[in-house]
Amino acid sequence: MSYIVLKGVNYSYSLGEGRSLKALKNLSFSVEKGSFVALVGMNGSGKSTLSKLLNGLFLPTNKSGQVIVDGINTKEVDAGNLKDGDGKEITAFDVRKKVGIVFQNPDNQTVATIVEDDVAFGPENIGLPREEIVDRVYSALESVGMMEYAERPVSKLSGGQKQRVAIAGVLAMRPDVIVFDESTAMLDPLGRREIMSIAKDLNDQGITVIMVTHNMDEAALADRIIVLEKGQIVLDGTPKEVFSHDVTVYGLTLPPATETANRLVEKGFAFDTTITNEDELVEGVCKQLR
Ligand SMILES: Nc1ncnc2c1ncn2[C@@H]1O[C@H](COP(=O)(O)OP(=O)(O)OP(=O)(O)O)[C@@H](O)[C@H]1O
Ligand SMILES: [Mg+2]
Repeated sequence: MSYIVLKGVNYSYSLGEGRSLKALKNLSFSVEKGSFVALVGMNGSGKSTLSKLLNGLFLPTNKSGQVIVDGINTKEVDAGNLKDGDGKEITAFDVRKKVGIVFQNPDNQTVATIVEDDVAFGPENIGLPREEIVDRVYSALESVGMMEYAERPVSKLSGGQKQRVAIAGVLAMRPDVIVFDESTAMLDPLGRREIMSIAKDLNDQGITVIMVTHNMDEAALADRIIVLEKGQIVLDGTPKEVFSHDVTVYGLTLPPATETANRLVEKGFAFDTTITNEDELVEGVCKQLR
């Protein structure tokens, strides 16, 4: 079932003096509930702009463009036209609760001094009862392995730990979808791996994950990779499908394992070039050596 649907979406930034920059052009695609999608593309291809459209932070700038999140058209929310089953107005905040975003810089995402207060910020803002807030904060901290840091100052944490707190803050809102916009970019290899493993666990629990990344090893872990170039989708498929193309024309690299497989083929070995990860590479090498 599609959870997010985009139909003919354009997004232009106004540059003043009547000038504008078209960041997204006629984008149409949908994201299935429970999927793990990697969004890749070179700098300026439109990934962050697209991320902000997915939770209604930005709206399509063309008249016909639509972003529908769990059946809710983000433009109609903005116009105040929608009511829920109880006749209550559906607000932009309701959409943001459904789709949470974790950004790149952990330092820009914390709002409180102490870890548990920071994670509680969202639930407090939606006026949940105290016990519910406490329950959500601790289960979110548990999910990211930060329980023992609950009472510590955020400022004393490492970048990777801060990023885990930021994820907990998003989780405490119980979102259906989490968008990670290059959330591993500022972390060391271990920190990156931890965030990827958290993302995988959350996906296993049914949360839809959209992972914006420049790291092709990370992208290869997704069910589906969408490649953006100049605000348009140029490739969309499984990692095996996408990496069977020459992605260098879109400013990307192949995952190291795929690159190695291709080079072994060049050396005359009958090698499977559709491999996308180290385990498959090792398997392939073992077969040749046996
Ligand atoms: N606030 C803004 N005002 C004007 N132009 C912008 C603004 N933000 C982004 N852009 C432009 O929109 C285009 C898409 O930018 P975006 O940040 O979405 O790319 P990205 O794929 O996330 O890049 P990166 O990999 O560097 O994060 C780029 O040409 C960028 O220069
Ligand atoms: Mg970006």
